[in-house]
Amino acid sequence: METQKRLIDSIKKVCICRGVTAGTIMEAIRSGCSTFEALRRAIGVGTGNCKARRCRHNIEKRLKDHKESLKTETPVG
Ligand code: FES
Repeated sequence: METQKRLIDSIKKVCICRGVTAGTIMEAIRSGCSTFEALRRAIGVGTGNCKARRCRHNIEKRLKDHKESLKTETPVG
């Protein structure tokens, strides 16, 4: 299931103006980008013609979901 989700993310464009896929965004989030502005600087999301009107909501939801998933992870040990 996780593999299937990653495969879909690798081709699904979230920032349509810049052609940035969900996979690229999630990779940047996992690498430490924790805000929309950090993602904008790192991979250029939100810098297209629509000025993030189409993609910002989706990207911020992904950031929020990632932060939530970190909180619910079971500590090792
Ligand atoms: S869809 Fe991301 S800047 Fe337009």
